Amino acid sequence: MTRKVISYPNPVLLRPAKPVEQIDEFIYVLVKDMTRLMYENRGIGLAAPQVGESLRVVTVDLSGPDNQEELTVYINPEIIHAEGEVTTEEGCLSVIGYQSRVTRFEKIKISAKNLEGQEVVQEGEGLWAICLQHEIDHLNGRLFIDHISRLKRALYEKKLSKWLDPKKE
Ligand code: NI
Repeated sequence: MTRKVISYPNPVLLRPAKPVEQIDEFIYVLVKDMTRLMYENRGIGLAAPQVGESLRVVTVDLSGPDNQEELTVYINPEIIHAEGEVTTEEGCLSVIGYQSRVTRFEKIKISAKNLEGQEVVQEGEGLWAICLQHEIDHLNGRLFIDHISRLKRALYEKKLSKWLDPKKE
């Protein structure tokens, strides 16, 4: 099966993903595909629903596609503590042609399993915290455009429907 990055309004992106029960060959291949697609599309984070798999798996590499030095895999990640507030510009490989300012927690602590099945707890702020919140949102069927104002959202939906069907007025 050749996986690819899917985009809004694909319904897989809009429903909560299932927890991973067993880290097996299927998950190894999924992570490999996600990592490849994340780098190919020049992203720093990707969630499994973005490649059409409704599972709680996230890949992150803040060093970026040109360095590929900090790949981290999070299985069933959960935010266990959050504080502060920060607003930054966000985009998403699954939301075509749009970026917007989004307000999120400034610092978070998460628990997850790594690919070896070990429990890990990690805390941080800055880009890491924003990226993890964005990706964990994906696992809950939420996109960054669910955080913007109704007016901005309506304008985006209108633009998108024209792109998807240029015959529409
Ligand atoms: Ni995204």
